[in-house]
Amino acid sequence: MNLFDVYPLFPINIVSGKGCKVYDDKGTEYLDVYGGHAVVSVGHAHPKYVKAISNQAAKLGFYSNSVINSLQEDFAKKLGIASGYDNYSLFLINSGAEANENALKLASFHNGRKKVLSFKKSFHGRTSAAVKVTDNPNYVAPVNEGLEVVFAELNDIDTVKELETQTYSSVIIEGVQGIGGIYTPDNQFMQELQRICSATNTVLILDEIQSGYGRSGKFFAHQYAGIKPDIITVAKGICNGFPMAGVLISPAFKAVHGQLGTTFGGNQLGCAGAIAVLEIMEEERLIENAGKVGDFLISELKKLPGIKEVRGLGLMIGMEFEQPVKEIRSKLLFEQKVFTGVAGAHIIRLLPPLSLSMEEAQEFLARLKMCL
Ligand SMILES: Cc1ncc(COP(=O)(O)O)c(C=O)c1O
Repeated sequence: MNLFDVYPLFPINIVSGKGCKVYDDKGTEYLDVYGGHAVVSVGHAHPKYVKAISNQAAKLGFYSNSVINSLQEDFAKKLGIASGYDNYSLFLINSGAEANENALKLASFHNGRKKVLSFKKSFHGRTSAAVKVTDNPNYVAPVNEGLEVVFAELNDIDTVKELETQTYSSVIIEGVQGIGGIYTPDNQFMQELQRICSATNTVLILDEIQSGYGRSGKFFAHQYAGIKPDIITVAKGICNGFPMAGVLISPAFKAVHGQLGTTFGGNQLGCAGAIAVLEIMEEERLIENAGKVGDFLISELKKLPGIKEVRGLGLMIGMEFEQPVKEIRSKLLFEQKVFTGVAGAHIIRLLPPLSLSMEEAQEFLARLKMCL
């Protein structure tokens, strides 16, 4: 059987990793400032994480959500404390798209409305509602077209005044737009958006799937604006690569049996890994590290000639170039052995593990300079 050909692939077979390095099947070492697309949060093959997952697999990998799972409760408690949302509830599922799908459903169950306001350049996933609130018609199949969505301009409050019609169920917005090109909503815009949402009984959903979990230098990027959304979605870094995601839900929402559900979500193996991730983040002060190393990288990148603009927060960084970045990225990968990401044709995206050290950041800068 062939693989369905959905991705353009680099001819590199990555078979192992350690910290911020990955290795191919020939033993070549690469510096990973991509984190496997913002997923590897505490570093590849972190010993504490490996131990937690291995021990749990040897004990019990999975049992259904029809019985008490104390690992879910332990994880929820730890996540509440780490994020500052200990009075919120947690619903666990498997991927970012599913997290947003459930958030949009929950909002609609809550206020009985149908329409959603999203933003230009947004990305929220590939499932039915999540893809419809994503600003890219190429991803939307006819079968996804039922949901009515309006795309407003990020940081233009006039374009969200539409909410005053009181016909919108929810607004969905990324903490920092990732795939769209690393655009951060202004604090004042976020505060005003929250004010309009609460005045119009519209649910505010913060998609922190890429920008959250410590990457921005705070647990959530929206915490820079001092707001408290009604629903927050998380995925990617939550279990360092094991598929897991969560929906954090404000106390204003009432849980109703049967409305939401999942087979795999919150399984024992994932919870054991996710607990280890939070413990490692705390023990190694990785949020602080992301802020410090991210600030350093952003200020050093701004000094380099040939880069049109550097944007970002913490270890979520975009470098925009006048020219397409294909050649620079290829040189970085094949000559300098550095993995990076992109956002569109002109932006290189850096999403390394939160454990990236100052030395590794300097190493990246040295290798980048060789490609400019
Ligand atoms: C902001 C954001 N939301 C949602 C998703 C979808 O997550 P997943 O691919 O786990 O479904 C992504 C993935 O890149 C994302 O960056």
